[in-house]
Amino acid sequence: MNVLTLAELARLAKLNLEPAVWDFIEGGAGEERTLTANRDAFDRVWLRPTVLAGNGTPQIDTAILGRRWAAPFGVAPLGYQTLAHPDGELATVRAAGEAGVPVVVSTFAGRTFEELAAAATAPLWLQVYCFRDRAITRDLVERAGRAGFEALMVTADTPYLGRRLRDERNGFTLPPTVRPANLPPGDYASPSAQARAQFDPALDWSVIDWLRSISDLPIMVKGVLTAADAVQAITAGADGIVVSNHGGRQLDGAPPTLSVLPEIASAVAGKCPVLLDGGVRRGADVLAALALGADAVLLGRPVLHGLAVGEQAGVAQVLDILRAELVDAMSLAGIAALDDAGPDLVQESEPRR
Ligand code: FNR
Repeated sequence: MNVLTLAELARLAKLNLEPAVWDFIEGGAGEERTLTANRDAFDRVWLRPTVLAGNGTPQIDTAILGRRWAAPFGVAPLGYQTLAHPDGELATVRAAGEAGVPVVVSTFAGRTFEELAAAATAPLWLQVYCFRDRAITRDLVERAGRAGFEALMVTADTPYLGRRLRDERNGFTLPPTVRPANLPPGDYASPSAQARAQFDPALDWSVIDWLRSISDLPIMVKGVLTAADAVQAITAGADGIVVSNHGGRQLDGAPPTLSVLPEIASAVAGKCPVLLDGGVRRGADVLAALALGADAVLLGRPVLHGLAVGEQAGVAQVLDILRAELVDAMSLAGIAALDDAGPDLVQESEPRR
């Protein structure tokens, strides 16, 4: 089948994966209100074109934390990518390198930082979960730094994993072949039990100072959903913010990311980059997020769909579809450069059902 959209690729991925693995990847917390709302928020957006703008081909490269990205999107941190394909993160990093976009490597990556760094031709960032045993987290951060990773992204919305009812019903455990490659040996079969046992549930803003004391890398905070927390992050010394509800996997009932983006972008007022994730599935979604104040977006589940369908080539296809759709949406909307996309581009109405 000639796959033309990320939605088509998702349907193919579902056919290739065990039902319980599909549910682990696809599912959200609770009744999945937030998961559904992330997509609905994008479906509610209409783009108001400017005609006869005389632009020609739009520019889509951008600079984030001093590095050029070939497009205003990157790969969100996704643990255990070896679930979708044995090459896991290695295939993702190679595909992203070809596309010239960064990968945020999860604390729970199934391949080592060193082998990923050796394969990378675009920036790698480390996503940090803070463990009760800080020595484990310190080791991760130091190893990633030595391997040439360029930034840290501390996940702030996960004192433990949200209740993912699909996984509870399926009694989901990771197959023995799927384990974190960068963590000490331990019992990782149940992701939620492992997080309950090992994550620091009392994390606070002092984590930024702590990370700063062990690393020179820029620090992004992932999971911000209010203007107040965005301001707090900057006050605490963060170098960037990721507007995220963890793809609807943590607080069910948290607002869709696109809906809170304008208040956060206006509170941040250009002091640091603002990224967004959650429900980005089309080039037009990327453009809408940029128009409403994001500097770039991160892509989650579609990358796993790409891996499941076609390993490295599948991920490359995901990134290529998104790039081509973004260029198309900008061309047809009369937007010459990413900075030209502002709130006037967006009109919102009831979601299409
Ligand atoms: C995630 N996400 C995630 N986030 C994080 O900070 N660390 C992690 O290890 C993971 N792992 C992970 C695994 C799987 C299977 C999924 C689906 C998600 C959340 C991820 O970074 C991102 O916030 C969402 O996936 C974005 O939403 P979309 O694009 O999947 O809708």
